[in-house]
This record gives sequence, C-alpha cells and structure tokens, in this order.
Amino acid sequence: MLDRPGSSANALSKVVLEELDTILRELALAVPRGLIIGSAKASGFIAGADIKEFTTLSSVDEARHLVRAGQSVFDRLEALPCPTVAMIEGFALGGGLELALACRHRVALDDGRLTLGLPEVMLGIHPGFGGTVRSVRLLGAATALDLMLTGRNLRADKARKLGLVDALARDTDSLKTLARDFVMQPRAAHRPSLAQRALSWAPVRPFVKPRLLAQVRSKVRKEHYPAPYALIELWSKFGAQGAAAYEAEADSIAQLFLTPTARNLVRVFLLQDALKAQGDKSLPAATRVHVIGAGVMGADIAALCATRGLEVTLQDRDAEIVTTAIQRQHAKMVERIKDPTRRDAAIARLRADVDGACVGDADVVIEAIVERADIKRSVFAAIEPRLKADAIIATNTSSIKLEELSSALQRPERLVGLHFFNPVALMPLIEIIRGELTSDTAVNRAINFARRIDKLPLPCRSSPGFLVNRVLVPYMFEAMFLAQEGVTKEVIDQAAVDYGMPVGPVELSDMVGLDVSLHVGTIVSEALDKTTPDLAPLKELVAAGKLGKKSGEGLYRWIQDKPQRVQTDRAAHADLQDRLTLILANECVACLREGLVDREEWIDAGMIFGSGYPPFRAGPLQAARDRGVDECVRRLQELATRYGSRFTPDPGWERLRLPR
Ligand code: NAI
Repeated sequence: MLDRPGSSANALSKVVLEELDTILRELALAVPRGLIIGSAKASGFIAGADIKEFTTLSSVDEARHLVRAGQSVFDRLEALPCPTVAMIEGFALGGGLELALACRHRVALDDGRLTLGLPEVMLGIHPGFGGTVRSVRLLGAATALDLMLTGRNLRADKARKLGLVDALARDTDSLKTLARDFVMQPRAAHRPSLAQRALSWAPVRPFVKPRLLAQVRSKVRKEHYPAPYALIELWSKFGAQGAAAYEAEADSIAQLFLTPTARNLVRVFLLQDALKAQGDKSLPAATRVHVIGAGVMGADIAALCATRGLEVTLQDRDAEIVTTAIQRQHAKMVERIKDPTRRDAAIARLRADVDGACVGDADVVIEAIVERADIKRSVFAAIEPRLKADAIIATNTSSIKLEELSSALQRPERLVGLHFFNPVALMPLIEIIRGELTSDTAVNRAINFARRIDKLPLPCRSSPGFLVNRVLVPYMFEAMFLAQEGVTKEVIDQAAVDYGMPVGPVELSDMVGLDVSLHVGTIVSEALDKTTPDLAPLKELVAAGKLGKKSGEGLYRWIQDKPQRVQTDRAAHADLQDRLTLILANECVACLREGLVDREEWIDAGMIFGSGYPPFRAGPLQAARDRGVDECVRRLQELATRYGSRFTPDPGWERLRLPR
C-alpha cells in the first residue's frame, strides 16, 4: 500500500520512485505469487508525478534523466513474471495511471466520480513514464490518443468499457477480494480490438495522422500548446512499439518540460492549488443557502448550489419569476445530471420561497437583484432582523462598493461580496469582496462557501469593478477606439485570438451583453477617470435592444450562438495586439500598486480563471515579466506618444522590476 508520508495524497516524487524501485528489485529476486499495488490514502490511488519537482528542472538533460529513471522503475514492474494488479480507489491520474498501466491488470472502485486520466497536456507535457506507449498498446490508438490529447478524466465505469480497467467493485472490501482473485486466478491482459490495433500499423499511421492533427489544430495552436502535437508525432513515428518509443517519449517530454508553455501551465496549476487552499476550515460549514433574485445570475447560482449538495431556497419579488426560474433550472438538471438518484436529490434541494420565509434558516444569503444600491439596501434592511446570528450576507453586485450597501445593516461586518461570473456554471472564479467593514470571519466563510461549491475564491478589496471587470474595461474600450479608427471588428478580435485569448474583445462584449458592458464600463471609467471612446454607438445599440448574443444581435449578428464574421483583409496594423494586451497589463499593474489583492499572482489567477486570459502565458503580469518589464514600459511609452495618455505606463511597473 502506497502511503507517502506527510501528505494527504500520493504523488510519485523522486523519493517514492526510488523506494518503489528498491522494492521491485527485491521482488524480482524472490518472485511472489502476485503483486497488488494499492493506496493507504483516503483521497485516492496516486495523483500523479510530484509537480513541484518539475519546477526545479534546469536543463533538458536533467529532465530526460529524471524521466528515464521513472521509466525504468515501471519497466521493472511490467517485467515481473507474476500477476500484477493496480487496485484503484479514487483518483489515478497522470503518473499514477501510468503506474497502473505497467501492471498486468487494473481493478477499480465504481464510485461515480471522474477519477482516471492522463491530464498531462494540461501542464504542457505528455505522459513520460511509458504512458504514451502502454496506453496505446492497451486501448488502441483512437481511444488512447483521445484520452491523452484531451486530458479528460473518466469515471471507472467508462474506463471499464474502454478496457482501461479490467473489473469494478462496489465497495472497498469487494475491491480487495477482486484484486486477490486476479492474482489467484491468473488471466491474460486486456487487448484492444483488431480495428484499434490496425490504426497503429506502419502503413496506416500516415493516413490517420492528418486527421488527428486537424482535430488538435481546431482547438489549439502549436506555438501556444506544443504538447498535443508532440504526442501525435511520437505515435506517428513509432506506433507505440519497441524500446525506441520509450526513448523518444523521454526525449520529447524533456524538451517540453523546458518550454515556456509547460513552465507557465505548471505555475497556473500551483496557483489554482493555492487558491483552493484558502479559507478557515475551523468555521462551521454552510448547509443552507437563500438566494434573493431569480434573474440571470440568481437562478444559476441557486441551481449550482443545489447541484453541489446545499439546500437552497430562491426568492424574487414576483411568484411567477421564481416558478419559471425553478422550472427552467430543474429542466437543465434533468439534462445535465445523468445519474437519476443524484439528479432527483439536486432537484429536491432547489425550492421556491417567494416571500423569503426561509431566510432565517440560511447560513449564507446571496443577493442577486437589480444593480440598484437603494433597492439592495432596502432588501438588506428588511431581511437582517430575521437572519441567524452567524449568517453572512453576500452580494453579487458587479459595480457597487460594499460600503454603499452595508450602511443599511445593523451589523455591516457580515456583508461580503460574492462576485460570480456569467455563465455561473462554467466560470471557475468567484471574487470575494471585502468592504472596509467586512469581518475576517465573513471573508473566510465566503471563501469556504466558494470552495464548497467547487469554485476558486479570489479575495479582493472593494473598489470600482473589483479586479476582473476593472481590467477588462480598458481592454474592451481599446477595441472600441480601434473600431472608431476604422479597424474591422474581425481584425480586432483575430489579434486577440492570435495572442491566445479564447475570444476577442468585440465578441466578448457581445457575450457579456452590451447593456452590462456599457454599465460596468461607465462606472469603472467614471470612478477611475479613464479616457473613454465615443460610447454613443454602443448606447444606440442598447437602446435598440441589440444587446449582443442574448438578443441575437449586438456588435455581431448571432446565429445559433455563433457570431457571423465577414472575411476581411488581415493585413492589420502593427500596434494592434500590443494596444490590446499592454493596456490590459498596465491596468493589472495599477491594481497591483493599489493593493487590490494581497499577492501579485492573484491578479494573474483572476484574469485566467475570471476572463479566460491564456493560461499558457500564466497571466498578464507573468507575461509582462516574461517579455521584460523594460520592453513593456518602452512600448507603452511609444503607444502613449502615438495614441494618447491612456497608455502612459503606471508607476506600479517599478514593483515588477523586483523579483516576485
Ligand atoms: P436580472 O435582471 O436578470 O435579475 C434580477 C432579478 O432580481 C429579477 O428577477 C428581479 O425580479 C429581481 N428583483 C428585483 N428587485 C427585487 C426585490 N426587491 N426583491 C426580490 N427580487 C428582486 O439581473 P442579473 O443579471 O441576474 O444581475 C443580478 C445581480 O448580479 C446584479 O447586481 C448584477 O450586477 C450582478 N451580476 C450580473 C452579471 C451578469 O452577467 N448578468 C455578472 C455578475 C454579477
């Protein structure tokens, strides 16, 4: 049983691999009847390689050496002449699954969670302990490459169907019995179908490769994310056969380790872990939530909380609004939650409460009504006397300072901002807004709550637009300046996409809603005295009900949720990309100088998880550091001379000259 000391999950660190190597050498000399590898951790089997060790690699040779050493341990495991069984309970990811692949059999607990996968591409690498070879040999090229290229995780039952797992058990005791059966009654290892095997035959591979490349190309570019391309190259050269395939795997991953993409994706992974580790676990956990406002945000927030296991009541000023919202959310749950028991439970947990009769039972009250301070204040004043003593009030306001709202409360310290992003189910971030009077307890309870519903909490000071919206305003405004100079929206958006943004700023404005963009843009620019482009065309669109994606037309026309682009000449202008990305970085630097968040990396995390800023660049501030602070400042000065003072470098760039 693997039990790495001092940590809640097993990871394959160098030390763990060395110890495993010693054990396997001994077993090779005195071969047992069989070997079962399991985990003593409640959290799962093995989470993967130790990612922190990746950050210390300083050369391709060092990386290759580390990987080859790991490969030889797994080779030793595979070569044992007795039955070998990986007994998987909980997650088996990355190197953990590679270890299981080196066993003759895999048995797993069928617990309905997504726990098996080879997610290395998410870190800018691919499997390196023989996984690129063994997965193809076990599952066939189509299935194995799909797993590695997408990095998606599988539930045990799906893994069983694909042949990744040989048998499933319903509980821990049966799992042990099952593993023992595989030792006592030896059987042949799983083999993929002939059709799957044929894909890896040398004459067939050249026909399959272009299809794989086209699939990857439609999602990511090689210069941004080289790992999936490297993976296809490995398979097409070696077809997962022979010792050369392992050597090439090690060479390839060693190169990838040292790419800026892998370094940055590992940084982002560690950042995500740091966001998750926040909060105060000693505080009582929230079980009941009351949401006021059943509009776009409130209804989605309520449904998300119910899906995550909380008891939820939903209130609005109008009974029909609540009923319709609940019916719509129940219908979405039917569509999304496949398991009938989980689905029925989630549906039962989301209930209408038009008059707010249950507000007094809630641990967390979330307000998501219209963006009007006076109306929000009157709602707070009405509910406060009925709240539990330790309940927190959370507002989802996107632009009102908390101090303006807390004046309605007897106990203003319990008001905190929980700023969700739209669409609630998809956006991983919640900004946790601390007003001047908000207590530490309220902040920590809000952080705990965000974690309870599986979101990433980003603590942020109360100030106009908070972090993400504030930074996006000058970026989106710059797109408008460009449009007003005659650059087409297609060319503007393409420049941002070329940089790695998921969508360009014009498309983003349409997706957010032009009414919302205009509202937030006006508030932020007035509060921070920003130069604004001519907003009249935007106001006209809003007045005409052309609000963007949600109304079918905005800056683009939208058909079946897709913006209709006109082909335009891409011979764009040289400053375009810098104008968009450096004005955004400059605003991040201003937020850093003002101390909007406690740590520099929080700004990067906020922009990645709250706005989709490209993870392979590890955030706007890291990207600026990578490009060079002097170079960024010089370019901003140049842009300021050419286009105006909005590009004047913020004094905060000085801070970026210091190491983190
Ligand atoms: P919405 O207009 O879709 O929904 C607001 C709901 O509040 C309506 O159903 C309305 O009937 C209800 N309401 C109004 N006064 C009420 C009262 N006195 N008592 C009970 N219910 C009342 O608005 P949306 O977009 O959901 O926004 C809600 C809040 O979330 C706003 O503060 C907004 O700034 C914020 N927000 C909105 C985002 C978005 O993309 N729409 C993103 C992040 C935050």
